[in-house]
Amino acid sequence: MKHAMKPIRVGLLGLGTVGGGTLTVLRRNAAEIARRAGREICATRAAVRDLQKAGVHAGDDLTLTTDPHEVVNDPTIDIVVEAMGGEHPALELILAAIASGKHVVTANKALIANHGTAIFAAAQKQGVMVAFEAAVGGGIPIIKAIREGLTANRIEWIAGIINGTTNFILTQMRDKGQDFADALKLAQELGYAEADPTFDVEGVDAAHKLTIMSAIAFGIPMQFPAAHIEGITHLTGEDVRYAGQLGYRIKLLGITRRTPSGIELRVHPALIPARRLIANVDGSMNAILVKGDAVGVTLYYGAGAGAEPTASSVVADLVDVTRMLTSDPHSRVPHLAFQPENLAQDPILPMGEVRTSYYLRMRARDEAGVLAEVTRILADAGISIESMVQQEPGQADGKVDIVMLTHQCAEKQINHALSRIESLPAIAAGVMRIRVEHLAG
Ligand code: NAP
Ligand code: HSE
Repeated sequence: MKHAMKPIRVGLLGLGTVGGGTLTVLRRNAAEIARRAGREICATRAAVRDLQKAGVHAGDDLTLTTDPHEVVNDPTIDIVVEAMGGEHPALELILAAIASGKHVVTANKALIANHGTAIFAAAQKQGVMVAFEAAVGGGIPIIKAIREGLTANRIEWIAGIINGTTNFILTQMRDKGQDFADALKLAQELGYAEADPTFDVEGVDAAHKLTIMSAIAFGIPMQFPAAHIEGITHLTGEDVRYAGQLGYRIKLLGITRRTPSGIELRVHPALIPARRLIANVDGSMNAILVKGDAVGVTLYYGAGAGAEPTASSVVADLVDVTRMLTSDPHSRVPHLAFQPENLAQDPILPMGEVRTSYYLRMRARDEAGVLAEVTRILADAGISIESMVQQEPGQADGKVDIVMLTHQCAEKQINHALSRIESLPAIAAGVMRIRVEHLAG
């Protein structure tokens, strides 16, 4: 099939998991992509650090360089795909590409969550597009869904499993009994993990993605520093097992919710009822629930990481940008879904004010009166207990695990109660507290 217009030329910054996957998909599906975009889209230049490693992607169509500025400054390049990661020099390269009138597609959620405001302002001034579908949820078109598909709605909340690495680790721990370190190593080998995997396991990567979704859902600026972030490194096999016995699964969740006092923006492990679809999202898969006032709850599911799933989103952005090239910049879909002059300034709700239910596990001396003391402290703090199980003593230290589920209370109430419970001589230090999310419509 002939296309009247000249091909769109793409410059790739990075040819690792995402950049390499993008090149593979662009090459393999070239004809199909051209039929959709109305013209060919070809990657013609790519920057890497190690030319030898990138040799697997060599081809007559592609020139490799170790200098990313050569890509950004190449006047024949129409769209720069940033798939190198990190904040610097990615930020400077993207700003340089924008300044030279190039459109940008990026998979870099850390960059968008931290510098999105500056990047979008520069792009708007220059009349170019910055697309970032691959930054959230890997291959799931969640940005498009929130920004365009749900545009009629007042979004109420979003809750998602948005980090493939941690979901993979938790699944391996639960189903295969694999230990944390081995599961993480495997996730790294499979290309799911960030260059610095502490971003994954400490919840930072999920918070980057949540910040982006929150901004486009509620029309607020990116507020990553205000996000509450907890990872999965403190979870134990016992908690995974006890949660299962109680009818729950533990997942790392990102939650953002509109409340009358502000917007919740939080990432932490949570118990989810096992009967919920999202509780059964395993391996590196991601799933995101979005509640809109008109549509109700919608669920988006798919591969959250990996070469070709992420490339699927990058290439979708390339096609979108190509289709919109001739459109009036003021008529394009705004970067943050809302017109830039109409962003809201809702505050982020302090974590102490957030209300959830809790799973509590404490190790206690197996003697009369201990339970009564614990329940009195909870009652004094205004926290009611939904259920409680005293596990069989498994060790010879005369202590037992007490596991309880509470009804909803504010985080500051549970913090106060736990500091009192942890000071009891009969309770071993460090009560485990995991929030419970029912995620009902
Ligand atoms: P990666 O496999 O480590 O690839 C990074 C690529 O960038 C490599 O080709 C690397 O070259 C190149 N690079 C890095 N710094 C460079 C520099 N200063 N100059 C020239 N080339 C440079 O990383 P990735 O997993 O593809 O991730 C890339 C981005 O996509 C990150 O922002 C990540 O958060 C995001 N992302 C990743 C996934 C995923 O599943 N992996 C999914 C969604 C989004 P060398 O190999 O020669 O060092
Ligand atoms: N490290 C990320 C994850 C890659 O595990 O989800 C996809 O964004």
